[in-house]
Amino acid sequence: MSPQTASTTLAPQSPAGGGGLPRLLPPAGLAEHLRRHGPVPYRGGTGALIGDVRAAGLTGRGGAAFPVHRKLEAVATARPGRAIVVGNGAEGEPASHKDEALLFAAPHLVLDGLQLAAEAVGARRAVLYIRGDLRERTRLDDQMPERYAHGLDRVAVEIMSAPGRFLAGEESALASLISGGPAVPRFTPPRVFERGVDGRPTLVQNVETLAHLALIARYGPGWFRAVGTPDEPGTMLCTLRQADGSASVAEVAIGTPLADLLDLRAVSAVLVGGYHGAWIPAAQAAALALSNAALRPAGAFTGAGVLAALPADRCGVVESARIIRYLALESAGQCGPCRSGLPSIAAAMAELAAGGPGPHVLRDLSRWAGLVEGRGACHHPDGTVRFLRSALNVFAAEIGQHQQGRCTAASDLPFLPVPAGPSTDADWS
Ligand SMILES: Cc1cc2nc3c(=O)[nH]c(=O)nc-3n(C[C@H](O)[C@H](O)[C@H](O)COP(=O)(O)O)c2cc1C
Ligand code: SF4
Repeated sequence: MSPQTASTTLAPQSPAGGGGLPRLLPPAGLAEHLRRHGPVPYRGGTGALIGDVRAAGLTGRGGAAFPVHRKLEAVATARPGRAIVVGNGAEGEPASHKDEALLFAAPHLVLDGLQLAAEAVGARRAVLYIRGDLRERTRLDDQMPERYAHGLDRVAVEIMSAPGRFLAGEESALASLISGGPAVPRFTPPRVFERGVDGRPTLVQNVETLAHLALIARYGPGWFRAVGTPDEPGTMLCTLRQADGSASVAEVAIGTPLADLLDLRAVSAVLVGGYHGAWIPAAQAAALALSNAALRPAGAFTGAGVLAALPADRCGVVESARIIRYLALESAGQCGPCRSGLPSIAAAMAELAAGGPGPHVLRDLSRWAGLVEGRGACHHPDGTVRFLRSALNVFAAEIGQHQQGRCTAASDLPFLPVPAGPSTDADWS
């Protein structure tokens, strides 16, 4: 492991107050958390922390890397006193475990960040939204009274369960569920920072983003910028899936070479950014670093930090078809692109994976991809098309073999995790 990364096996401890890593992940119950970091460093008023967050250059770690200070400013100035803050720990992406690792190791950093974000935007309501199974396993509900007893929280925190679905963490789906509706996305605008939970301005930040915020509030923007790149400062949590099937979570300085994170021997391609991300050929990935600036020319982005090395003995076409089937089944089914486009794309990919597809399959896939893009209420069709296009591009040679009815893969074992989702795909074939 390079000096700019740190394993997250939740064992090693190191102070987060210096420039070393890990910053977020050393495990800490409340007593250790208070010993290490002290109480929540409130600033005493709405807006006071925003300058530090801007100077730190913190961006969201939930996938889109949106500048955090801009959302803080928008919510702080929207309708004072009516704002709500939500910590998003839904982690609907099946290949990602970084929020889970963080909530186990350092829940109080997340909860401190939630309080500080509430103060920064003047919110009187705070919600921690985490997957139901994680809520049980972390026993976070049981830890809240201890925080209250220490007088740490100025805003009461409600913990709410997110369904274990891909879309549950999309911010408008989250706002709908917390408002008492189903966890399905809605058309935007208005964005949730304008009208979110119960129609109020709602700040939604990924739980990792909140943990970084809690450290910036204590140690300052200069400390935060001591690692990372000038344009993309700090660290990010990554879920690393190696070709041997092992998976771990690592806290990584942005800008770390991918080759320091993944063993790229006997690997055909690397999936970067998760199931809304993109495949990159292994040889190209070996020369790239983990930053959006470095990945963008390869058609990829860091997303929520999933990096998966596909073993050379698997078929990228079969793997991609499996993921696309999953994504199509996970759509909320309320917009045209998801009702008809994604199932058609999934069925065509299944045909391609099975070998000997009809002559029109590639042309159909490319046409349908163009038809669904940008037409949904949320970005689910766009993310799915991004993944599809990268698969068609990176696995072009395998696709050629499949068109001849051959597959060169030595193993047909599935590699990437796909949960047992909705029970039927009968309508697609
Ligand atoms: C389909 C879809 C699923 C998403 N799932 C999650 C999720 O599980 N967790 C998360 O933090 N953000 C998720 N997001 C992003 C959220 O909508 C939102 O942008 C994010 O929580 C904002 O936090 P950040 O700025 O701190 O990253 C998802 C977005 C999309 C389009
Ligand atoms: S685009 Fe798809 S996933 Fe998004 S809201 Fe519409 S139907 Fe649901």
